[in-house]
Amino acid sequence: MSFAVPADSPVRDNRFIWGVATAAFQIEGAIHADGRVDSIWDTFCAEPGRVLNGDNGEPACDHYHRWEQDLDLLSELGVDAYRFSIAWPRIMRAPGEVNEAGLAFYERLVDGLIDRGIRPVATLYHWDLPQYLEDHGGWLNRETAYEFARYAQVVVERLGNKVTHWATLNEPLCSSFLSYEVGVHAPGYREPAWAYQAAHHLLLAHGLAMPVMRAAAPESQHGIVLNFTPAYAADDRPETQRAVQDAEVKDVHWFIAPLMQGEYPAGWFERFPEWRPIIMPGDMDLIRQPMDFVGVNFYTRHLVTDDGAGGVKHLPQPDAEHTHIGWEVYPEALTRTLVTLHRSYQNLPPLIITENGMAGDDHVVDGQVNDAQRVSYLERHITAVGEAMRQGVNIRGYFAWSLMDNFEWAFGYSQRFGLVYVDYETQERIVKRSGQMLKEWMKEPRLELASA
Ligand code: FCB
Repeated sequence: MSFAVPADSPVRDNRFIWGVATAAFQIEGAIHADGRVDSIWDTFCAEPGRVLNGDNGEPACDHYHRWEQDLDLLSELGVDAYRFSIAWPRIMRAPGEVNEAGLAFYERLVDGLIDRGIRPVATLYHWDLPQYLEDHGGWLNRETAYEFARYAQVVVERLGNKVTHWATLNEPLCSSFLSYEVGVHAPGYREPAWAYQAAHHLLLAHGLAMPVMRAAAPESQHGIVLNFTPAYAADDRPETQRAVQDAEVKDVHWFIAPLMQGEYPAGWFERFPEWRPIIMPGDMDLIRQPMDFVGVNFYTRHLVTDDGAGGVKHLPQPDAEHTHIGWEVYPEALTRTLVTLHRSYQNLPPLIITENGMAGDDHVVDGQVNDAQRVSYLERHITAVGEAMRQGVNIRGYFAWSLMDNFEWAFGYSQRFGLVYVDYETQERIVKRSGQMLKEWMKEPRLELASA
């Protein structure tokens, strides 16, 4: 598949794309501005004990008001592309009720990017489901998938080919399993069977929206963004091998398998019949839509053993390098993930690294933020991407997470993932050392080589 940017795009070319990423709820703030309605994350934040320090989506980075300054920051960093998400609660006040002010905001943002020669890469759903849909069952209700396709149509008809890459969903693994099984993300349930049903409806939402999006923006690239956390065996016992395979079914293959092959990983629901979701005739064909790209989000690996009861246990690695959020740094796992995807799925479209980065205990000293661990993390992971390319994987871009420090879900504002430091009191932004380095690396021809 060729990697063509829309003919009418002022930033048309076929280079490897370098960018940075954000998501609406994590940066925008202004949660009541211009007709935005509540999302499940507003509700979740208001429930005691759900989010560290009782933090919520206000003020975040106040990006809703400071978007022009933030676009200038993108220019300063010299990125080719900016991946952001669109807030469903800003666009649809109720089923069928479009909020013009919300659409106008994203139109200004997209036009502002194009004016600066930066490609807009948009995700339609980065976890902020309107609360009015949750009140009718949220992702457990099949109707939510149809509602998503209607919302997608409204947005893509408006912004169309100006957005070079449209992604339906961000990390459905998190908005199903973390949200309905582990309970650490909104809406915060602990019912494994619900997680599988939510996951199925999320995939259905993707499948219903894709043709609508293609029709509305025929020149754009359309796909999805998934996260992958490969499992490594802690020892060589057969029980551990079984645990590793099970962990990879969920953390690597659960979403990509049905998208590519039209079926869930083999044998799973025979072993766990109580988790089988309701799947209507035709659903799997709808889910298996041709895609122009798959976005890969990668942060860490899991070291796995069995839990003695047929389940999976993650082992800590006390001697390994970790980030401030406690995730192990293991760049080789990124190469392995990319190569695994390439070898496992014959019809895999080109991949784009849509998120990669780390949380640091970053501080301003003499007006500067020297985030040495992040510089090293990014350099090693970019090298790991290049290694996967040398092994034959078709990778078309790399986006660092994140443009700037922001609201890190259940961790609130305690985890800083930005290339740009944000002082939440003053809303001052300071480009960290990592941001300066990324700017240099993006100019280097050796990284250009990676796309050859
Ligand atoms: C990913 C999310 C993103 C951000 C990073 C750290 O799972 O997509 O919003 O929180 O993790």
